[in-house]
Amino acid sequence: LSPEPVMMGGVSARNHLVLAAGVLGTCASSLSRMLRSGAGAVVTKSIGPEPRFGHPGPCLVVLEDGLMNAMGLPNPSKQFQDELSALSGEPVIVSIFGGNPEQFHEVAGWFADKAQAFELNVSCPHASGFGAQIGTNPDIVKACTEAVKEWKKPAWVKLTPNVTDITSIGKAAEEGGADAIVAINTVRAMRISTGMRRPVLGNKYGGLSGKAIFPIAVRCVYELYEACSIPIIGCGGVSCAEDVIEMMMAGAQGVEIGSAIVRDPDIFSHICKDLYAPDGISPREIVGCAHG
Ligand code: DOR
Repeated sequence: LSPEPVMMGGVSARNHLVLAAGVLGTCASSLSRMLRSGAGAVVTKSIGPEPRFGHPGPCLVVLEDGLMNAMGLPNPSKQFQDELSALSGEPVIVSIFGGNPEQFHEVAGWFADKAQAFELNVSCPHASGFGAQIGTNPDIVKACTEAVKEWKKPAWVKLTPNVTDITSIGKAAEEGGADAIVAINTVRAMRISTGMRRPVLGNKYGGLSGKAIFPIAVRCVYELYEACSIPIIGCGGVSCAEDVIEMMMAGAQGVEIGSAIVRDPDIFSHICKDLYAPDGISPREIVGCAHG
């Protein structure tokens, strides 16, 4: 589906399109379904130090131009090892989270022999103890990255857009030894049901994803490209080949796709068809080309 395999931040992917964390990422069968349907690599649901059920519902709502979720990092913790075994040899990036560098180190250790790479989730906008407290502090981001890098695997760090200066966080990840930056996680958001006179989500606040946040993601990638020297993976509202090209022009070497799968389960093969058409683009020539 791509002219040749692609190296992105230490990961050998089959093309430039990666399944974003959190979407269909908790079981081996849905991850391999995404690989079969054209994803160049896949990121798992974030795995943490203890099993979690997540936040009370409603925890996912479909909006006109995107999704809003407050799942609350539900995950099977160490048990996920069983699912990962079924994916051996596949380009699987294990998303991990923790409340401090020691927890990031511990969780990474459970998967160090099977994961092709790690993605550090330091950016959930609505999980107390795991999200904002970690990913908005450059010193903590650097320390978590260093802790995971002790396992000698490629490490991508997924950043939150919910900060004043995303480049300070990107630079901290780079200093900690990150192999790539993923920008961005969801945008902190809220909707209120006027009929019920209360917030729609069980957790009140959540994270907005999908088309609505694409311009925010492009801006973050553009800023990070100017400030950092490691590869950037664009994430946030990508839903067609044109979006992939725009992200690349901003500075992304590849993209992650999540919410768009809800509307088109075969989005990967559809985008690949357009992106790698005979008269299509050459990603190598366009990455960062929008920087004057
Ligand atoms: O929007 C998000 N929701 N971002 C995350 O990093 C985690 C996820 C969840 O589980 O709530």
